[in-house]
Amino acid sequence: MNEFIMDKLSVNGKNIIVTGGAQGIGKCAAETLAQCGANVGILDVNIGLADAVAAEINAQSGGKAVANSGGKAAANSGGKTAAYSCDVTDSSMVTQAFAAFTSDFGALDAVFNNAGIVTHNGAEDVGDDEWKKVIDVNLNGVFYVAREAARCFIGAGKGGSIVNMASMSGVIVNIPQQQASYNASKAAVIQLTKSLAVEWADKGIRVNCLSPGYIATEMTGKLRGDWKSFWESLIPFKRMGRPDELVGALVYLMSDASSYTSGLNMVIDGGFTCV
Ligand code: NAI
Repeated sequence: MNEFIMDKLSVNGKNIIVTGGAQGIGKCAAETLAQCGANVGILDVNIGLADAVAAEINAQSGGKAVANSGGKAAANSGGKTAAYSCDVTDSSMVTQAFAAFTSDFGALDAVFNNAGIVTHNGAEDVGDDEWKKVIDVNLNGVFYVAREAARCFIGAGKGGSIVNMASMSGVIVNIPQQQASYNASKAAVIQLTKSLAVEWADKGIRVNCLSPGYIATEMTGKLRGDWKSFWESLIPFKRMGRPDELVGALVYLMSDASSYTSGLNMVIDGGFTCV
């Protein structure tokens, strides 16, 4: 008899880091993972907001927030959540934040490598600093976080799951907004995901990525209304997605139900890239 699938489709008791978890998709992911019984470390540059989100999640699950890096987590019925100050472009901060999380909670099981930024400018107008910043957060930061996760898994003598945040922008070119740096960074994340999946397969480390279409978050909330109406006219579902429509895939990819899945680019876009 097969093992009951819902026993495998679980993150209960896992220790999981979410980067960029102070708002948007990362916040929804942190809430959901904690709700599903995981201990969650939110790593974000915006530590004020990250601390508030951790406190909110712990209050909802009956626990107590853990202060930025260092505090011990209080036991509660659901998962526990703590916030750690971390700029993912600074690899020493990444190392320190991972060390603080594993010291607070124990061996790492999974990472949602989600922090990212976007800027909109015609390529001929993009300055060196703007280009480097987008690549630094969206590609270098994703690599530093994945590398640190792998070092933690290998150091603990166990496998683990890394879910990188790519985008449909890694496979199509969005219009009408101009965002070549973002599109290039996300295409690189997809190929980085496949490369790491193959390199680390024999270590029991699975590496996959999510490629959402247009999702309503703080990132897209501040953009022009006429862009959004135009996008919606192109999306077969005729609407943008919500963060909660992505996180089921995240739970699956971090659970034992996906034990044979690595190198996958899971596109979740309301059909956008089909047409
Ligand atoms: P958001 O702007 O609402 O949230 C991003 C979070 O990342 C914030 O909490 C921010 O403080 C944090 N962050 C930014 N730079 C950081 C750094 N250097 N180090 C640590 N944390 C940092 O964005 P949203 O919409 O939630 O996007 C999350 C991820 O999903 C990004 O990688 C984005 O590119 C990707 N994505 C978003 C889509 C959308 O339509 N919203 C579509 C496809 C992908």
